[in-house]
Amino acid sequence: MNTAAEIRQAFLDFFKSKQHIIVPSAPIVVKNDPTLLFTNAGMNQFKDYFLGNKTAPSARIADTQKCLRVSGKHNDLEEVGVDTYHHTMFEMLGNWSFGDPKNPTAGYFKKEAIAWSWELLTEVYKLDKDRLYVSIFEGDEKEGLPKDEEAYNEWKKVIAEDRILLGNKKDNELVNKDHPQVIEIWNNVFIQFNRKKDGSLELLPAKHVDTGMGFERLVRVLQGKQSNYDTDIFSGTIIAIGKIVGKNYQGQNDKPSIAFRVLADHIRAISFTIADGQLPSNSGAGYVIRRILRRAVRYYYTYLAYKQPLLHQLVTVIAQQFKDVFPELWQQQEFVAKVIKEE
Ligand code: SER
Repeated sequence: MNTAAEIRQAFLDFFKSKQHIIVPSAPIVVKNDPTLLFTNAGMNQFKDYFLGNKTAPSARIADTQKCLRVSGKHNDLEEVGVDTYHHTMFEMLGNWSFGDPKNPTAGYFKKEAIAWSWELLTEVYKLDKDRLYVSIFEGDEKEGLPKDEEAYNEWKKVIAEDRILLGNKKDNELVNKDHPQVIEIWNNVFIQFNRKKDGSLELLPAKHVDTGMGFERLVRVLQGKQSNYDTDIFSGTIIAIGKIVGKNYQGQNDKPSIAFRVLADHIRAISFTIADGQLPSNSGAGYVIRRILRRAVRYYYTYLAYKQPLLHQLVTVIAQQFKDVFPELWQQQEFVAKVIKEE
């Protein structure tokens, strides 16, 4: 198991074997939530289940979700291409448990989520245990929130205690310090409190699990690469760009290398967002897409000295690559390429 497609499939198969149903990615474009322009996490499409407004089709769900983080709380746009591990669009692998007080055994909580995280990473993906750290929520006195002893005790069963770090702890040298070779791959969120209007917290009758694993980062680790762009998620696009502009990607920090990475990243975001129904425009979500597209054009025009429309030529490469997991682009590739070329 070493291709990106195999790594993604292994995640879904693993959670299927733990009685999860696998659902498709929701569209990257959000039409019915005034708080979001784009899907920015796997949990977005399940918000009504967490809030108890709707009942989930299964207490256990897993998927890979197309996410875009270029607006609002998460905005990585200016980093993208400059470093090797931030993206506009990325895939978030997720497993969920939606608790139901009437049927407490249908879902799961920290014990299972933590044990399965470790099993998947170390037994299925065979990641070296000595290269992993975990962090747990350290608590917040002001908020009246205790340290997450329950998670700590579950992690203690599988990993040495000096590798369990307290979230936000300042004295750690490497973990969560934006070191390019020490990166977060998976966020396990345990939902157990409801914050009331007066600011106090009450325990929820049903507890939930919300996890998100950065697919591009996971693939990079498993393929032994220093950069997400050296994985087979991006290498096909980078080769195609090289052929079009008549230059080779050097994988350095110079502007032409950054331009290759910007293009490889941005064409995915633009293509999938248009395929999901958002055209470039002068305002709102459409303007975000226009900005991403223009940033890509600026980079190839200036640093790869290519003076013709380029991006539309890459749509077929992306459509082909993701045909099995996100067929929506494959089905509309001519339309998407035409929109991009016109823009
Ligand atoms: N919602 C959490 C995140 O976005 C975990 O999926 O990281």
